[in-house]
Amino acid sequence: MKGVVLAGGLGTRLYPLTFATNKHLLPIYDKPMVYYPIETLVRAGIDEVIVVTGGPHAGHFLRVLKTGEELGLKHLAYTFQEKEGGIAEALSLCEDFAEGGPVAVILGDNTTDADISKAVKTFEAGARIFLKRVPDPERFGVAVFDPKDKKKIIKIEEKPKKPKSNFAVTGLYIYDHRVFDLIRKCKPSKRGELEITDVNNFYIKEGSMDWAILKGYWSDAGTFESLFKSSAFWARKNQKK
Ligand code: G1P
Repeated sequence: MKGVVLAGGLGTRLYPLTFATNKHLLPIYDKPMVYYPIETLVRAGIDEVIVVTGGPHAGHFLRVLKTGEELGLKHLAYTFQEKEGGIAEALSLCEDFAEGGPVAVILGDNTTDADISKAVKTFEAGARIFLKRVPDPERFGVAVFDPKDKKKIIKIEEKPKKPKSNFAVTGLYIYDHRVFDLIRKCKPSKRGELEITDVNNFYIKEGSMDWAILKGYWSDAGTFESLFKSSAFWARKNQKK
């Protein structure tokens, strides 16, 4: 399976930190943020990865990641998202790179120590998402479960004011190649973006989505608080070694 790291956007929630570089190159403890999602993919046995970036500092990625060899990659590709068109639009740029196969997608600001290698190896078709119980679900895509079958997700709501569960949809997804056709069916949301949540809801409607709880630590890092907390977690974890 090939991997996709989505590392575009302007990172406006982190101004003034992101005036001078891309959010995903800011430090999380002792490494640039984007190292973590790449390492998660490498740990899962994925060594062909594409990074989708964008914005005024996109060129900085080459200086930091170079060929990707130091991170354990056999093949590192880059592509550029022209506008802030959303996660699903960023993913659509990877269709040729995927060459008809499935993809493991990870958001560039998501750090986790979870091992997703089994989920990658056992994936056959459809889509697979990873949930995490959080105290502030309204910040995320949130799973809505069937009241009659607590194991069945009936839909995902993007940043709901009144979340119907505490389970956030993390920024790790596995999709079969049909994801690219489904993205073509998406329409821009109120914030003018192609939402990954709409793509996930297509799979749910079709009955081809499965899910697992992400075991271990997980956080995004797109706000000052989550950036700070992520750094604190990785600092503590590294000191224990
Ligand atoms: C995105 C997705 C959301 C998901 C989150 C995970 O939100 O839209 O569904 O829960 O990533 O980090 P963002 O914070 O990028 O707006």
